[in-house]
Amino acid sequence: MQIIRHPDEMTAWAKEQAKAGRRIGLVPTMGFFHEGHISLMRRAGQLADQVTVSLFVNPIQFGPQEDLAAYPRNFERDCAMADTAGVTALFAPDAAEMYPAGCSTTVAVGAELTGQLCGASRPSHFAGVATVVCKLFSIVRPDLAVFGEKDFQQLAVIRRMTADLNLGVEIVAHPIVREVDGLAMSSRNTYLAPQQREAALSLSRALALARKRATEGEHSAERLTTVLQDFIHSFPETAVDYISFVHQDSLQHVAEIDAQTVLALAVKIDGKVRLIDNGKVL
Ligand code: PAJ
Repeated sequence: MQIIRHPDEMTAWAKEQAKAGRRIGLVPTMGFFHEGHISLMRRAGQLADQVTVSLFVNPIQFGPQEDLAAYPRNFERDCAMADTAGVTALFAPDAAEMYPAGCSTTVAVGAELTGQLCGASRPSHFAGVATVVCKLFSIVRPDLAVFGEKDFQQLAVIRRMTADLNLGVEIVAHPIVREVDGLAMSSRNTYLAPQQREAALSLSRALALARKRATEGEHSAERLTTVLQDFIHSFPETAVDYISFVHQDSLQHVAEIDAQTVLALAVKIDGKVRLIDNGKVL
């Protein structure tokens, strides 16, 4: 596996691959890999000839009070895991290379996709994500890119940006990878102390409860939300950020749930660790 630090070097490598007729699959990440990231890399390997993983803790997608400085990092371990997963190139640029002095262009996807759910409590987050992913697409020039359904709003934002800007990258969605007890894997799970780890199960259990109630016939988003709110708050130290039933593509709220509805959840554990999860309920 090659480790590439400079954007120009990355582009030169990508051009060579294209010349040789090899398709590149990109997996953008912020590192501290877990099985969710690894499954995205394997998926990219099944769909493309060369897998490039970007590892960049993107400063512009973190708000001022967020965990940029504390975000977990382990470069050596990540390199070993990516290598084992069959990654051919790991692109790990410095922030100064990605955002040199004078850099002033951002990509903003419209408020209908970015104003609600996570965008409501993280106002500049999706512009940060769209900007870095657009830059990564320009630098790596992939044929396809794999993203996790774990970040369901992010996936919708990237699909919209890729279509709107004619970026010509196929966006592949990969299902959420979970721990055996149901907790969606996340680099941020490492912040959880044992008791908080228990409370973190409130998200996946709430999804299961919503599925049960929905199959029993309860299709009112409002009534389900009340049930889920009480359920989540029955776990210690939990505070609901949002419980939203939205259409899977438009991300607009729905009053009655159906097969196109996704339940999206964000919960703060102990006032510090903010976790998200989502899934279909019917
Ligand atoms: P990061 O949180 O490192 O996630 C990288 C990719 O892994 C994303 O596509 C995310 O949805 C996926 N992923 C994370 N946990 C997953 C899980 N449990 N199951 C399946 N996929 C999972 O998302 C980002 O980084 C950044 O915002 C990024 C897109 C790299 C832009 O900076």
